[in-house]
Amino acid sequence: MRYRLTCLTPLLVGDGRKLSPIDYMVWKDHVNVLDQWRIFRLLAKGPPSAILRMEHPMSKSLIAVLLVPLGLISGQELKPVALPTPQTSGGKPLMQVLKERKSVRDFGPEQISRQMLSNLLWAAWGVNREDGRRTAPSASNRQEMDVYAIVAEGAYLYDAKGNALKPVTQTDMRKLAGTQAYAADAPVNLIFVADTAKLGGDDAARLATANADTGFIAQNVYLFCASEGLGTVVRGSVNRADLGKAMNLRAEQRIILAQSVGYPKQSPSAAAR
Ligand SMILES: Cc1cc2nc3c(=O)[nH]c(=O)nc-3n(C[C@H](O)[C@H](O)[C@H](O)COP(=O)(O)O)c2cc1C
Repeated sequence: MRYRLTCLTPLLVGDGRKLSPIDYMVWKDHVNVLDQWRIFRLLAKGPPSAILRMEHPMSKSLIAVLLVPLGLISGQELKPVALPTPQTSGGKPLMQVLKERKSVRDFGPEQISRQMLSNLLWAAWGVNREDGRRTAPSASNRQEMDVYAIVAEGAYLYDAKGNALKPVTQTDMRKLAGTQAYAADAPVNLIFVADTAKLGGDDAARLATANADTGFIAQNVYLFCASEGLGTVVRGSVNRADLGKAMNLRAEQRIILAQSVGYPKQSPSAAAR
């Protein structure tokens, strides 16, 4: 395996979790790591990383460096993404879309354009009225659901009002997006997360509401995909504990379901035609 050598800086690389000033001290050209064990623990929760200590060539002071497999990080910090305005007209007639709706679990390498992602997210859980209501219903209009998008470069939170993607982590989390192998092949995995703090009742009642509200969003995704020739499958097969940790979710934020989206893999004979 090839490694890239990266110094720890205040914009910590690795799994994108933030360090606090008490964990390190920056002085001139080097970083003094004060609480190495906390940093080791943070990194142990993230992608596979090796940590070693070495002399800084300039200052000769001791600093921490990370060895991170190439591909797990990009040189740049993940930035917010302004999505193109969703195209909200056109598409196949509803009855045809209902005829074609189905689950697909085999995804080809074709990527999803930013415009298509914007349209997909709008169809799933976008704002469709001036008062801020959405394309899917929610009990008492609590709008407790959040849709996250896991893509190759990291995980984003869909900001429906701002029509934007907010960075969550820049780690490639596609392997964490599902326990079935095909999830890692899908260019987009949506994660439906309920903020149960926005709901009333006991835990069971809150989860029942969140489950129902998620179903509408997932069906919107199914119908959009059928209309656009995309493949999709809604999934309960997700390691909620590990993924929740990687996404820095609060305890009240519960992962309900995931949904993989991509272009269906074509059979070799179909591709040749
Ligand atoms: C709540 C729910 C959870 C599901 N979880 C998974 C899953 O973890 N993995 C999977 O491959 N399909 C999953 N599915 C998809 C179903 O297997 C699929 O809808 C069913 O086989 C019927 O096929 P169809 O969607 O093509 O009509 C799930 C569907 C629902 C509604």
